[in-house]
Amino acid sequence: MNVNNFIQIILEIRSKFQNDFSGHDWHHIERVHSNSMKIQEKEGGNSEVVSLLAILHDVSDHKLNGGKLNQGGIEAAIIMHKIGVHKDLIELVAPLVDEISFKGAGVSDQNSSLESKIVQDADRLDAIGAIGIARAFAYGGSRGRPMYSPEVNAELHDSFEEYANSKSHTINHFHEKLLLLKDRMHTQTARELAQERHDFMILFLTQFHQEWGNPAAL
Ligand code: ADP
Ligand code: NI
Repeated sequence: MNVNNFIQIILEIRSKFQNDFSGHDWHHIERVHSNSMKIQEKEGGNSEVVSLLAILHDVSDHKLNGGKLNQGGIEAAIIMHKIGVHKDLIELVAPLVDEISFKGAGVSDQNSSLESKIVQDADRLDAIGAIGIARAFAYGGSRGRPMYSPEVNAELHDSFEEYANSKSHTINHFHEKLLLLKDRMHTQTARELAQERHDFMILFLTQFHQEWGNPAAL
């Protein structure tokens, strides 16, 4: 892929995400791209596939497109085709796009390649730690969710439908997804990067519940 193609894809994705206030703004894509390339340098894999997949991974996420599933690969292929990316590269990248998103605590990951594992790890690193906390509350706010309701317990969803339809408060999201991510990293590099971010979330939750007046809760 030449530099011009890559710049055109970046411009297209940047404009698509410019009005997002749900934690999926262009800077999320940029961070996932930069962490994906860091992981790829250590773990190997095809760097062009990793790079394109990172830029395109949220192009049509079910959370942002009105609930449609498996739409990302189709949209990614259309964009790559329009911009003139070689069809062999499109065929490598497009099928991986819909593998990236988290589908529920009890739903196992389906990654058909190392490149898909690397971008999923990078996406998950951006969902945890200080940035992950900020994104979770931004997302919850954008969907009209309460930040916390002590009477509503977390649920570990066994199907994607249950996970996607859940309207729970944002503190539950830590138990339903964010605290599980450290142990669901595929690469050693990401597992190491995840630890500090994970510990910071525990510190945050401890302090949150202490201030709320219920220090026993976590
Ligand atoms: P994934 O596709 O794995 O969900 P994304 O890149 O789309 O990853 O990021 C999802 C972001 O949205 C995360 O930061 C996550 O915390 C946030 N999010 C998703 N669902 C919820 C929810 N129910 N409550 C709060 N935040 C959420
Ligand atoms: Ni993402």
